[in-house]
Order: sequence, then C-alpha cells, then structure tokens
Amino acid sequence: MKYNDIDFNNKTILITGGAGFIGANLAFYFQENFPEAHIVIFDIFRSEATFSNGNLQSFGHYKNLIGFHGDIICGDLNSKADLAQLDSYTFDYIFHEAAISDTRVYDQKIIMQTNVNSFYDILSMAKKSNATLVYASSAATYGSMPSPQTVGKENPENPYGFSKYAMDQIAYKMMKENPSMNIVGLKYFNVYGAREFFKDKTSSTVIQFGHQILAGKTPRLFEGSDKIVRDFVYIKDVIQANIKACAPKKSGVYNVGTSKPRSFQDIADILQKELGTDYGTEYFPNPFTGYQMHTQADISSSEENLGYSPQWELEDGIKDYLSEIKRTYEEEVK
Ligand SMILES: NC(=O)c1ccc[n+]([C@@H]2O[C@H](COP(=O)([O-])OP(=O)(O)OC[C@H]3O[C@@H](n4cnc5c(N)ncnc54)[C@H](O)[C@@H]3O)[C@@H](O)[C@H]2O)c1
Repeated sequence: MKYNDIDFNNKTILITGGAGFIGANLAFYFQENFPEAHIVIFDIFRSEATFSNGNLQSFGHYKNLIGFHGDIICGDLNSKADLAQLDSYTFDYIFHEAAISDTRVYDQKIIMQTNVNSFYDILSMAKKSNATLVYASSAATYGSMPSPQTVGKENPENPYGFSKYAMDQIAYKMMKENPSMNIVGLKYFNVYGAREFFKDKTSSTVIQFGHQILAGKTPRLFEGSDKIVRDFVYIKDVIQANIKACAPKKSGVYNVGTSKPRSFQDIADILQKELGTDYGTEYFPNPFTGYQMHTQADISSSEENLGYSPQWELEDGIKDYLSEIKRTYEEEVK
C-alpha cells in the first residue's frame, strides 16, 4: 500500500526504536513496499533491567525483526559513542521512534535524558544529512485537557508527557531557525496492532483483553469502562501518517488518531463478538488517580496539512489484527 507518490527506493532511512512496536512496523512497511530502500535500525533492544514499576527499561525485541534484511545497530540514545556509529551514513529520512515509551515511569532524570537530550543529537543528524525527520510525540502531552485535544493546547501531567512536550518545543524552535528543514512531530494517540506484544503490560488493551479471552477468562475492566473512552488508532493509520509526513514542506506537529473515541467496553465487546465468546465482563475499581477519561484527537490540521485520513474504525482494525492476536497467544503466551 503506497500512501503518496514518494519513491523510497534507493533512499537511506534511519528508524530509531526499530526493534519496538511502531519502528518495526515502519521497517517492514519500507522493506515490503520499497525493496531497494536502505533501511538502518538503531535500537537498544531489551536487557533484563527494570524500572521501579517492575516494567522493562526497554521493550525492543529481536522477534519483531525476524525477516528484516536491513542494517541493525544495537545502541543507546544516551551514548554519543553509540550514536557515532551512524556517522558513516547520509540519511534521506529519519523516523525517530526510540524512547522510554512507558508512561508510568516517574524517574524524571532518566526520561528527560533519554527522550529529550538525545533529540538534540537526532536533530543535528537530520540537519547534517539534510534528512526529513519524523519523530514520535504523544497524546500524553495533553494530560487531561478536554476533548478534542488540539495541537498547541498541551498540559502534560507525567514526566513522559512532559518529555514529549519538550521535544515538540525543541522541534518548533528548530523549524523556525531552519525553515528549509522538514521536521514533523506526530502525536500518536492509543496505537494498537501487530508487533506490540513485546511491550508487555504497556501494550494496548486490545491485545491484553484478546489474550484474556483466548485464555478462557472473562475480560477484567475498570468500573465504568463504558464511559472511559480513548482515541484508539490502528497501526496502519500510524504508518499512513508517517509516510504522508515525508512529503516536502510539511513541518509541524500533528495529531494521529481517528477522532472517533471508543470505550474500553467496546474493545472487550468487539473482541468477544469476533472470537465467538460470551464471558461477560468483570469490573474492578480503577486504582489510578489522574486517569484520562476521554481522549479524542482533533485531526483537522493533520487532514488539511498532511492529507492524513484514518481508514480503520475500531471494528475493522480489530478484525484485521485478530489473526496476530491469536498467533501471539499460541506462540508466546500459552
Ligand atoms: N504505542 C503508542 O500508543 C504510542 C503513543 C504515543 C506515543 N508513542 C511513541 O511512539 C514511539 C514508539 O512507541 P512504541 O509503542 O513502538 O514503543 P516501544 O517501546 O515498542 O518502542 C520504543 C523502542 O525504543 C527503544 N529504546 C528505548 N530506550 C532506548 C535507548 N536509550 N536507546 C535506543 N533505543 C531505545 C526500545 O528498545 C524500543 O524498541 C515512542 O517514542 C513512544 O513514546 C507511542
């Protein structure tokens, strides 16, 4: 599927975070659609180190890259020496997905170092190579701002959200000082789809509920889950946004969602329908304070300026994803 007429064949493409969920999907998108593209992945991969919340410090996994034929460099964004391994390339496009992606890491120092300091290095690399840079921002920059969340009206409420907000501010400054550079920030909302399994507990509720149901369990949801809504966006729409962001003169920061928020209850219900089960729902009190109750991306500027047009309603995305939910259950969970 090609989303515009850009020919990425014979282009050199860096994907940071390429062993993770969104980065690996980008890598395979280019490999499959542009076989002559030269794709380079930079990722720290996972070690056994965990944060104090018990989650792994990085989720990159080799299994996300089985079948990938490009270059792979295992490196840390926080290491100048590791980043210097990229000096021998001249990139045409850089997709910067690497980050501490776990919104429940509260160690501000490590989040700011990893997500923000390294962004200066990535921006310099883009400038040096004259590359188009598309980087991952986040809906977490909005905190609990009322829906629809609109670019320019952010109020981050956790260190992760602040780190992405800081990246946006740095990007705006860079765009202003270097009007000839192409820099696009994409504020992803709740992404679901293939290759997210290795994000463990931070993966989407689509795969988590899917695996609960496949294990014969009643899906467990927070009380009031029919009223807790999120803008769930399918990975294929996220790829579309990244590709459309590569067209010339698109610099800016844009939301990537569907603008059609759906409830957690909807996810459980759609999955049960698709999997042919009728286990009902089990409710338990929501342990989190400051929990976002309603997100909805204002995608008007993404539509207008990027030509982004989400194609996947939740029902369709889940249907498309179902075989992968089953495969990961059979091969990784059971
Ligand atoms: N998935 C979502 O719903 C979502 C929503 C908003 C924003 N984002 C952002 O999109 C990007 C991709 O997210 P994802 O869902 O694929 O997460 P992910 O955790 O699967 O991918 C991030 C990758 O970055 C790598 N990484 C982490 N620390 C690193 C370091 N110090 N050096 C080099 N590599 C490092 C990890 O190994 C991992 O492969 C992230 O920047 C994330 O913050 C994701």
